[in-house]
Amino acid sequence: MTTPATLSICGAGKLGRTLARLWQESGQFRIGQVFCSSLTSARDAVAFIGAGEPCGEETMPEPADLWLIATPDGAIAEAARRLGPALCASSVVFHCSGSLASSAMALQGCHTASVHPVHSFADPARSIGAFAGSYCTAEGDVEALERLLPAFRAIGGEPLTIDSHAKSLYHASTVMACNYLVTLMDSSYRCLAAAGIDGQQARQLLAPLASQTLQNCLGGDTSEALTGPIARRDLGTVAAHLQALAELPALQELYRALGRETLTVAGRQPHGQSLQPLASLLGSSTTPPDHTDDK
Ligand SMILES: NC(=O)c1ccc[n+]([C@@H]2O[C@H](COP(=O)([O-])OP(=O)(O)OC[C@H]3O[C@@H](n4cnc5c(N)ncnc54)[C@H](OP(=O)(O)O)[C@@H]3O)[C@@H](O)[C@H]2O)c1
Repeated sequence: MTTPATLSICGAGKLGRTLARLWQESGQFRIGQVFCSSLTSARDAVAFIGAGEPCGEETMPEPADLWLIATPDGAIAEAARRLGPALCASSVVFHCSGSLASSAMALQGCHTASVHPVHSFADPARSIGAFAGSYCTAEGDVEALERLLPAFRAIGGEPLTIDSHAKSLYHASTVMACNYLVTLMDSSYRCLAAAGIDGQQARQLLAPLASQTLQNCLGGDTSEALTGPIARRDLGTVAAHLQALAELPALQELYRALGRETLTVAGRQPHGQSLQPLASLLGSSTTPPDHTDDK
């Protein structure tokens, strides 16, 4: 039986400890040193992973076959710099940031990659069971990817490669689908609360609507999922919404901005009426795409 390669970790928070435990349980890697900002946190991570040596700031990094840097994005470059003396030509160092490329580690003389799991690690215990099936978007040098992609596959990840220059744009997309979806739901709840419906009733009211719409968006062209006043070119309703939202200026601004983008989606639907009056009402400076000729 071959001994698994050693994986050491710098930053074993939500993502770092989850991946480490999955790899430990699958026998892919032997977990080596585990660094966090504090030794207490590193001990906590090792208890969760079920393996590894908790390390504090005073401990020197030791050679390992692979290093995962899973600190917050802003600390990745500094963490990579600290690893320098423990690295050699065959070392593989990778991070999991969605927006940064592997070049952000500024490492020379070893193999580097970034692999971004498209998964929300909000609760590591839950992610252990839910990680399988998550896409893992990767870029880096060939040798690093040859080691890492099979390891991600072994814990249920679905590798996908990306051009390193496209990472920020790619990550902005995942932020919109994940984080901004939360903001959108929160805005909708605030609006309902102002209308006198809140708490459990508000959640029950929006749940089927939101779930169904998401299913429709995931099922095909998003323009086919669009219903409502902008799709119907209903100027009066949109004007009434803007007037009602005058009491909630931040939500009115959001409504206007999203409404302007909704014109683009509505413009892909065949319709006999122009979107121009709605564009003017919503303060759009560009002419909306229109299918008024497609009747
Ligand atoms: N969370 C997600 O859903 C998710 C999804 C995809 C990708 N990512 C990426 O994964 C990476 C980690 O995110 P996360 O959410 O797991 O962050 P996190 O929960 O905040 O954990 C960060 C960890 O890094 C440690 N740390 C901070 N600075 C350090 C340093 N200089 N040296 C060593 N350890 C240090 C922290 O130690 P303490 O515990 O002592 O503070 C903590 O354990 C980021 O690049 C992020 O973009 C996260």
